[in-house]
Amino acid sequence: MSVSPGSERLAEQYEAFSAESAAESPHYSALATAIAGDREVLGFLADLPEGKRHPTLFLAALRFLGGVPADGVEVHERVTSDADRLRDTVLSRATQTNEPARCTGLLPALAEIDGPLARVEVGASAGLCLYPDRYSYEYDGHPVGPAGRLWLRCTTNGPVPVPATPPEVVARIGLDLDPLDVTDPDDLDWLRALVWPGPVEAERLQRLDAAAAIVAQEPPTLLAGDLLDRLDDALALVPSGATPVVLHTAVLPYLDDDRRAAFVDRVRALPVRWVAQEGAGIVPGTGQSYPGGWGPYFVLSLDGRPLAHTAPHGGRVDWLS
Ligand SMILES: C[S@@+](CC[C@H](N)C(=O)[O-])C[C@H]1O[C@@H](n2cnc3c(N)ncnc32)[C@H](O)[C@@H]1O
Repeated sequence: MSVSPGSERLAEQYEAFSAESAAESPHYSALATAIAGDREVLGFLADLPEGKRHPTLFLAALRFLGGVPADGVEVHERVTSDADRLRDTVLSRATQTNEPARCTGLLPALAEIDGPLARVEVGASAGLCLYPDRYSYEYDGHPVGPAGRLWLRCTTNGPVPVPATPPEVVARIGLDLDPLDVTDPDDLDWLRALVWPGPVEAERLQRLDAAAAIVAQEPPTLLAGDLLDRLDDALALVPSGATPVVLHTAVLPYLDDDRRAAFVDRVRALPVRWVAQEGAGIVPGTGQSYPGGWGPYFVLSLDGRPLAHTAPHGGRVDWLS
């Protein structure tokens, strides 16, 4: 049986994902390798629309519907026996991983801004990063914030201006193409399904559940729509007397180059403070190479000025001199 060019490209994509995910999730790495060698599964994926074939989305859909597959044989069996539900899930859902520990990087940046703060987060997913003042932190063992059920631990390097107390947040406004609702069991299950199995899985799920419980007590205002189209609507909700802070973390890669540039230009022109935590170079001027060599990292920036390198799932902040 010949392999179509589409399936061949997908096989390469899954092989690449296998290499990239090996440290964080040896199991997903092994599944991706198995998928890359399975013509029927590749055929199923090739029939999906272009933006719906990514390993993160496909593996999350499998996990959401029936748990993490034990091996490539189970992936094959589930694709052949449960194709309709799998396709529906992939088509109706998106990669919306929401990691509250990213607040460990955001907190020092927010502390540099005069409050009280009105947070406007674009690409907010379920809004778990809108609550930096509700979580408990330990920066190098020093507690910050209210003692609660979610402790976020963080290692720092350099003169990180860790605040003695979290900033006052008076408005939490999120904007997302498809906001998730932590009080909806299906949405919460989807957020849990997006967590990869592996060495840090248990702590990430625990964080997710604890953050979701905090958010459910005082849900944010979440607007549905594109971040460029609805930014004005979100900003219109900022109460007077509060400092508007437009914020995003792990969002801009989802935009094509033109939309990303248009968004950056738009935010720069607004009378707001702007906090970004994105991959290196995603925000113009944040792409300088980093000598630390600790793997993939985000760059935390304030009003476009790089402040720190941070771990993508939180827990480490290296301040730039
Ligand atoms: C990887 S998640 C990150 C969620 C959250 N910011 C965090 O760091 O935990 C990316 C989010 O951006 C949203 N998103 C992607 N493109 C968007 C757009 N054009 N407008 C609004 N939201 C978008 C997705 O729906 C998703 O919820």
